Amino acid sequence: MTEHRIPLAGVIGNPIAHSRSPKVHGHWLARYGLTGHYVPLHVEDGDLAQVLHTLPQMGFVGVNVTIPHKVRALELADAISDRATLIGAANTLTFRDGKIYADNTDGYGFLANIKQEAPEWNPASGPALVLGAGGAARAVIVALLEAGVPEVILANRTRSKAEGLRADFGARIRTIEWVTSGEAIGDAATIINTTALGMQGQPELRLDLSGFRRGQVVNDIVYTPLMTHFLTEAQARGATTVDGLGMLLHQAVPGFERWFGQRPEVDEPLRQAALA
Ligand code: ATR
Repeated sequence: MTEHRIPLAGVIGNPIAHSRSPKVHGHWLARYGLTGHYVPLHVEDGDLAQVLHTLPQMGFVGVNVTIPHKVRALELADAISDRATLIGAANTLTFRDGKIYADNTDGYGFLANIKQEAPEWNPASGPALVLGAGGAARAVIVALLEAGVPEVILANRTRSKAEGLRADFGARIRTIEWVTSGEAIGDAATIINTTALGMQGQPELRLDLSGFRRGQVVNDIVYTPLMTHFLTEAQARGATTVDGLGMLLHQAVPGFERWFGQRPEVDEPLRQAALA
């Protein structure tokens, strides 16, 4: 009888050993005194379909999905939320009544992080500059458009990928050349780096960062290190900076609530647990 089972959840990826999600969910389970477990699951590409059909039989109520399975997970789902459809990838699956429900909470996590760390942020106050056009950028752009930014200025090394996002998301997107994106910083009210540049082990973001100024909100989705060169430069010029750890923490909230029945808080003890 399913209702007597201990609820299990986890995160599916490859590689998965360094995922911080087990720390996040583990912290919440302990903090709220809930019965349940959240585990890292290493799954090879070709095994995803079989794994997703087996997990519910073992007591899993849902899973997070990360690289490289986010697009395939969407294809394997029985029902898909509007925001997952828009983003074209799933990061949160819920197993219920023999069905797989797919959602994408990355855009929610991005917005909740900015709202918590920069409460004065007004999306309508001016254009947003988005650097990068990968999976993370799709979630960020959907969230920005929903929040009411008047325009998204989009710069990507491979311009055709930025044009593809413009075709998908419409007239409020304006693409610019990657090499000129430094110059666009001054025109934007909100600036987000969605590329991995600046992450430990990756090259630095080499743009002219002298356009940062007071009144801007600047977010880097990279969180190793927490203060990237990008954020340090923004802060030095008086902009409000938001690091990337909060997006990871907030995107976990809807899944935890669905699976374990408690809406969890994102606060300093959680940040410390995720970084430990
Ligand atoms: P994610 O899901 O994290 O967004 P992704 O889909 O692989 O990952 O996207 C990576 C993004 O970082 C892309 O926008 C990529 O630019 P390209 O589309 O030109 O590949 C960007 N990126 C990665 N390495 C880069 C580099 N050295 N210089 C500039 N952009 C880079």
